Amino acid sequence: MPGNNRIVLSSDHTAIALRQAVAAHVAARGWEAVDIGPVTPESTHYPMHGEAAARRVASGDCRFGIILCGTGQGIMMAANKVKGIRCGVCADAYSARMIRQHNDANMLALGARVQGEGLALDIVDAFLSAPFEGGRHVARVAMIGEMER
Ligand code: RB5
Repeated sequence: MPGNNRIVLSSDHTAIALRQAVAAHVAARGWEAVDIGPVTPESTHYPMHGEAAARRVASGDCRFGIILCGTGQGIMMAANKVKGIRCGVCADAYSARMIRQHNDANMLALGARVQGEGLALDIVDAFLSAPFEGGRHVARVAMIGEMER
């Protein structure tokens, strides 16, 4: 896989097992999984884990980020506060494909209390296999970036 093939993964306490399954899954597909935890099950705070992963993507250290909490919603909200991040929560593969093709998303959020492992891994595959289409979508994505200035 050319260029940066690193995917950063993080979660809160609700999603440790699913995050580890996703990390193993992407590694088996040739990506380098950078799993930044947490690893112990104590209750923790999703914003800081979303931010930590988002900063690895925004800095260019990792090509993509996959982040998880109970619904995927809170950790997605936190990640999207970091400049340069476009993160969507997906509970279906179609949406995961479309946030790459149309929105050039660089992060995916999943809800461990929403979907089982099989569906989550299908969603991950859809996200990672769909390239940004460019064309008419370039200006629209750029408009999102303009709001960060
Ligand atoms: C934790 O109870 C839960 O609030 C969190 O995992 C997430 O779903 C927040 O959006």
